Amino acid sequence: METARAEDGAWVIQFDHYDPEDEGRRESLLAIGNGCIVSRAAAPESGDDKIHYPGTYRVGCYNELTSHIQGQEVKNESMVNLPNWLPLSFRVEQGPWFSLEDVTILSYRQTLHLQKSLLSRTVYFSDQQGRRTLLRERRFISMAQPHLMCLSLEITAENWSGNLEIRTGLDGHITNNKVPRYAPYNRHHLEIQQTGSWADNNLELIARTVQSDFTMAFTARTQVKVNGAALTGIASVKPEKEKIFSTMQVFLQKGDKVNIEKIAALYTSINMPAGECRQAAREALLAAPDFNTLLTAHEAAWQQLWHRCQLTMDNQEQLLLFRLHIFHILQNLSPYTAEMDAGVPPSGWQGEEYHGQVFWDEVFIFPFLIFHFPESARSLLHYRYRRLHAARQLAAQHGFAGAMYPWRSASDGEEETPPFQLNPLSGRWMHDYTFLQRHVGAIIAYNIWYYVQITNDLAFLADCGAELFLEIARFWASIATYNKHLDRYEIHGVVGPDEYHTAYQHADKPGISNNSYTNLMAVWTLSHAGALLQLLPEQAQQELLEKLKLTPDELEQWDTISRKMRFVFNSDGTLSQFEGFEELQKFDLYTLRQKHGTERLDWVLESTHDSVQHYQISKQADTPVLLYLFRPEELTALFRRNGYEVKEDLLHRTLEHHLAHTAHESTLSKVVFAGAFAAFDPAVSWTFFKETQQVDISSEDKGTAEGIHMAAMGGTLAVLQHHYLGWQVQDGKLEMHPDLPQALGRVYFSLQFRNKELLCQAERASGAWEKPPVLPEEVASKESSESSI
Ligand code: BGC
Repeated sequence: METARAEDGAWVIQFDHYDPEDEGRRESLLAIGNGCIVSRAAAPESGDDKIHYPGTYRVGCYNELTSHIQGQEVKNESMVNLPNWLPLSFRVEQGPWFSLEDVTILSYRQTLHLQKSLLSRTVYFSDQQGRRTLLRERRFISMAQPHLMCLSLEITAENWSGNLEIRTGLDGHITNNKVPRYAPYNRHHLEIQQTGSWADNNLELIARTVQSDFTMAFTARTQVKVNGAALTGIASVKPEKEKIFSTMQVFLQKGDKVNIEKIAALYTSINMPAGECRQAAREALLAAPDFNTLLTAHEAAWQQLWHRCQLTMDNQEQLLLFRLHIFHILQNLSPYTAEMDAGVPPSGWQGEEYHGQVFWDEVFIFPFLIFHFPESARSLLHYRYRRLHAARQLAAQHGFAGAMYPWRSASDGEEETPPFQLNPLSGRWMHDYTFLQRHVGAIIAYNIWYYVQITNDLAFLADCGAELFLEIARFWASIATYNKHLDRYEIHGVVGPDEYHTAYQHADKPGISNNSYTNLMAVWTLSHAGALLQLLPEQAQQELLEKLKLTPDELEQWDTISRKMRFVFNSDGTLSQFEGFEELQKFDLYTLRQKHGTERLDWVLESTHDSVQHYQISKQADTPVLLYLFRPEELTALFRRNGYEVKEDLLHRTLEHHLAHTAHESTLSKVVFAGAFAAFDPAVSWTFFKETQQVDISSEDKGTAEGIHMAAMGGTLAVLQHHYLGWQVQDGKLEMHPDLPQALGRVYFSLQFRNKELLCQAERASGAWEKPPVLPEEVASKESSESSI
């Protein structure tokens, strides 16, 4: 694979040719950031066109706009594409400005150095006059100084002499334009308030978001050296209403080398008074040293991050993919993010898919964070806690008690799921009832539990964790209804992780009943509430119970519900996805794929005036998420608590059953099956695991242009930690039961547990990692193994 170069110490992602068709994916895959600012890997000479899409995003910067869709006013909060800090280009003798589309490319290399988060590009090209030029570009978003963005170009005039004009700028003529399906939405989030220059050549642009009213001050300086000597003199500056550019001229002799450094600073009123942003940006720029000095500090900061998640393994190809996943998590959720109020947008702060809204995806990323960056894990819980009030209000609006978290949220914790979704195949809008995924609160409770188990951060629990957990538990108790005839509790009117089943045919209300995943997560939350409370000192417990007006009767009621929940089983004895799933029509996925390729099934069927809701086919793993989150024995115990004998072989059969009914149309699906199958069928687990690793890195993945898939990336790390290295936490104790796939060889992974740094080393005791496996990997990983720590 061209992109994975394990021979470079498993740190480098590289492309050796320019491919306009693939540029969108590469811009996301090679985006760089520091957890405060993330910048797509768009070419600095490009603008928003059919090939390129410059995107600069500030973590936590949302804006809400109203659009008219299907005759309704639809409010939609979106991450905001900020003014473009990158523009930097050149031309020779008044010819066209440099563009890859207009020159003959003699050689090309674009490289992402994961270790130091440096993106570089080398292009050797010949223009239409036969002038050959070597262009070397490097850029990074400083991990040492979170407000600084740095770009450097080196231009060598190989066989020509002539006048070189350099153009640099800040471009505020920007909209959120990346996702074609969102074209009907209003996309103008920015108002440019001022453009200008200061201290002669430094450019400045001040903008604000039109509804959330965040002020942002950009400033940039561009310095030019010819053969090492600084070019002095005033550039010609052209301020326009929404952008500002300046140009400089220099005469080059054949063989001359020009170095251009652009350093930009961005301050926003997200974390400082609006009136201070401009001055702060100017001061940061004045204090900023040159590109190389900034780069040294940036590299040192990344080295510290990598030190906290040291991972090595014999299999270098695998190692590279794991590191890529860690890299993307860290640049979207760095220690800087931990100091902010931000959740996890599924596509990172580097694409506009899902408008950057927050779903349940943090549950996939959380395990990596808790064991390596617990402060980042805690900040995700704080993000939820700050929205507890909104979740209580949402519950109350729907007639429930406690806290009901919205399926999709952004800045204020209100429900952001749009009422309609555009089907690009039919051009029609489809109702979207996925907001009924009430299960989102359960992962917040689950994350709190494991955060506390792993960190022993009882201060967090006392300050906010316990309150959050108990309010979520209270919601589960209030949404559960008692079925007198069955003497069981049921949950109606919800949607499980499978978003293809959101309503029963002919029902007057959307929602399905007794989704196994939802019901079990409710049971888990309710059954852990008491134990969580017990972790607090007596007085803190009493204070909290009083604050929440939580009585012993209510706690007892929770316990009863957690012992009498209803679960629905298929005729073959396996656990059903929800009540009525088995009565739906059988579905022939193979034939449909032959006819329609890999298009989304809900779109394909709607375009033929049918509906995916009528069929026994799930968009993604639903019930199997239980086996991804819990060990078989934990699940068996939870079912037994409810009077069901669900033994391990039945869980295995349940997995097989669900696999046969899943279309894997979310990148979260295969990673769930990888984790879930690990305990039952390692070969199947490994197959799904490897397929998940191809997400984003494979050029087949067209969706990546709209953003990377953070949860799938986090999921591969979680599967490594919990299913392959077997990290388990029980009653405050860490155990390791590794059962590694043969193909990984020896694995070393550092971790933090209760403030202690540990290093886990695992290998298959047979020593088989020393010899290449005789059997194909899938079969080989089935072999019995013993592991050592
Ligand atoms: C999946 C959700 C997921 C969302 C964002 C959707 O396609 O169905 O489970 O949270 O993508 O990743």
